[in-house]
Amino acid sequence: MSKRIGILTSGGDCAGLNAVIRGVVSRAVDGLGWRVFGIREGTMGLLRRPLDYLELDPTMFTGQILRQGGTILGTTNRGDPFAFPMPNGETLDRSEELIAGYRELKLDALIGIGGDGSMEILRRFAQQGDIPLVGIPKTIDNDIGATEFSVGYLTAVDVATHAMDMLQPTAASHSRVMVLEVMGRDAGHIALSAGIAGGADVIIIPEVPYKIEHIAAKIDRLKMRGRNFALVIVAEAVKMENGDSVKVVHHGGETRYGGIGHYLADNISDATGAETRVTVLGHVQRGAAPSAQDRLYALTFGAAAVDLIAAGRFDRMVAWQNREVVDIPIAEAIDQYSAVDKDGVLVRTARGLGISLGDG
Ligand code: F6P
Repeated sequence: MSKRIGILTSGGDCAGLNAVIRGVVSRAVDGLGWRVFGIREGTMGLLRRPLDYLELDPTMFTGQILRQGGTILGTTNRGDPFAFPMPNGETLDRSEELIAGYRELKLDALIGIGGDGSMEILRRFAQQGDIPLVGIPKTIDNDIGATEFSVGYLTAVDVATHAMDMLQPTAASHSRVMVLEVMGRDAGHIALSAGIAGGADVIIIPEVPYKIEHIAAKIDRLKMRGRNFALVIVAEAVKMENGDSVKVVHHGGETRYGGIGHYLADNISDATGAETRVTVLGHVQRGAAPSAQDRLYALTFGAAAVDLIAAGRFDRMVAWQNREVVDIPIAEAIDQYSAVDKDGVLVRTARGLGISLGDG
């Protein structure tokens, strides 16, 4: 029987979201003869009146969508419908309006593409409104433990690795220590992977406590070996040595991680006398065109999510485990936050390669 399904992208954008959308539309419309409705700007599209959505059809896709960064549907990491920020500074529970919006669109099921925060909100909304929901994991932070890869992560690693590739020649030309600050929220996955792949001398992540003296000692050892430059990569959530977080306050008062690169660079200069420069990579890690691997996960997850709906299996998230796409309860996925394993293969590899993690 033909179905009408909704799809939305929620939380911070990342590479591969459009590829997920393509996967869902191809499988649902071409494969099963269903109709797909793309809801604009996360759940916002269901809160607006008239509803803000567009019907998605494979004929709309010109061949570009698979390659395109961002999300054609738009997204937001604000506007929690259970605590919606109002102009007077107060918050309002708008969940019933959201459920009414879903009903108005006459949908049979909803696919939500999001990180753990979005997944939690969407699940609460689905439970309250008795809405059949399927989740697809995306986040450059790769901190959803139930899946080995979330959409967007590998592209972010590629971008950060490419940045390391471009920093090395200029570091060597000027005999400098280059510090690259990357995203990842509270997890050091991007820094660790891009650090290893990009030939970092020092990788500093939130999961491994560091001391400036150890970083300085590593840089001094490189100098003694005749090396005139060094590459340091640091994850944005790393704290200062005294344990304080480094944050930036954006216009309007919102805070985000940012600034630890400058703190490290200043302290490295003080401790070693080296000239340092800092690159804060920021949102280029999110806006790039998806890598081949990210496209594969995106399309596989998209098609698998539609198949879950066809099978009547809801309140589940697709995930990548042991070279397969699987599905698990969303509640379980939200529970399994995954930072870098201090004893895991990549930390062991970094140490084995002589990369300093700043802890000895
Ligand atoms: O969660 C994704 C992420 O890019 C984090 O790595 C980063 O800390 C944060 O979002 C940035 O948020 P915003 O886009 O609101 O600046």
